[in-house]
Amino acid sequence: MDKFVKNFILMSIVYLAIASILGICMIRIPSLLSLKFVHSHLMLLGWVSMMIYGVGYHILPKFAGRFLKSKTMGEMQFWLSNIGLVGMLGFYALGVYNSETEVYKNLTVVFGIIEALSIFLFFYNMIATLYAKENNT
Ligand code: HEM
Repeated sequence: MDKFVKNFILMSIVYLAIASILGICMIRIPSLLSLKFVHSHLMLLGWVSMMIYGVGYHILPKFAGRFLKSKTMGEMQFWLSNIGLVGMLGFYALGVYNSETEVYKNLTVVFGIIEALSIFLFFYNMIATLYAKENNT
């Protein structure tokens, strides 16, 4: 199994643990409900998406009888998706508690764009793999 695949799976479980703790805290301390965006995106872009990236990179090329188009792109996507997610949620949380400071909102958007870029890398790598010419085996 490639290292970036294992790392995706590891980080997905780390995000699941953090998001679950935040979810429990949100039940106990209702003021934390203002971090619902952080909880839901740790779960969906962290736990769910990263598990799918990891399993998908490993298994989908095999199902299609092809090699992954680019492992380097997969590695890059690992870093971009983690940097994007942590930056987006970190600055979002800072923005919640410093609502008068515009810079946190702008940084949330910048890191959101990095996250979106990582999604496009996955999209391109998978499509280029699955629809490669038959002799790519
Ligand atoms: C230990 C497990 C979990 C706990 C304790 C928990 C707790 C919570 C709480 C307290 C809320 C806020 C509800 C409200 O608006 O009053 C919430 C929202 C949410 N949770 Fe979780 N959650 C857990 C697992 C998950 C999982 C596994 C996912 C998805 C993979 C998830 C996705 C979401 C989403 C999308 C929202 C936002 C819903 C909305 O905006 O109405 N949660 N969760």
